Amino acid sequence: MIRRPMIAGNWKLNGTVTESLALVRELRNRLDKVRDCDIVIAPPYTALHPVAARLEGSNIALAAQDIYWEGSGAYTGAVSGSLLKEVGCAYVLVGHSERRQLFGETLESSSRRMKAALASGLVPILCVGETLAERQAGRTDEVVAAQLDAGLMDLSHAQLAKVVVAYEPVWAIGTGQVATPAQAQQVHDMIRERVRARDVDIAKTMRILYGGSVKPENAAELLSQPDIDGALVGGASLKVESFAGIVEARPR
Ligand code: PGA
Repeated sequence: MIRRPMIAGNWKLNGTVTESLALVRELRNRLDKVRDCDIVIAPPYTALHPVAARLEGSNIALAAQDIYWEGSGAYTGAVSGSLLKEVGCAYVLVGHSERRQLFGETLESSSRRMKAALASGLVPILCVGETLAERQAGRTDEVVAAQLDAGLMDLSHAQLAKVVVAYEPVWAIGTGQVATPAQAQQVHDMIRERVRARDVDIAKTMRILYGGSVKPENAAELLSQPDIDGALVGGASLKVESFAGIVEARPR
């Protein structure tokens, strides 16, 4: 397989430190034999440091849910890439639709976040996706392309090669209404074509995850699509059974 699958769990605003450590213990026990898939979890900021300690020596990597682009200074509430690296993060989500919709993140700010992540040595997972109204208006490709172009803007060849993209239709996030494998594949193909226009080799190796109501029951069909290389999982990542079920559903 040319692209190593990735299953990432976005815990969002869920998990005290105690709850996070309990879930991590279960995940380690259940998934410690998995070698052919990158497994990533993104707990809330407050749990990152203790969780990192419990992940040592495991096959599970740590992600933050957001990053601010300045390194330090008078930016109340913000967390920089170097702070995330220090506590053991390897990845960071950028431009999640909840950040865009609820916290005013823009195309421009997602671009700054991408650059800051890469400059700090974090692998960014760039989230893109259309709303229901945009899909119904036939604007899916246009919206996703604009988010993709902004996120990848001005990256060097070496930086672009590190990026992971997650296509998450907003109407499928937390709604139980999953995109059909064909709908998802169509957008993933469009994303890969757009990356191909920049670099043919990177387009072949770039991982494009699908997110939006992924569950063990629908994961195998989604993950068997030619351009779907993994999943970004919200609700189902909070229980060991469902998250492990998705990891175990990857095609082998
Ligand atoms: P969901 O969330 O799996 O709960 O739909 C996905 C996401 O927001 O990354």
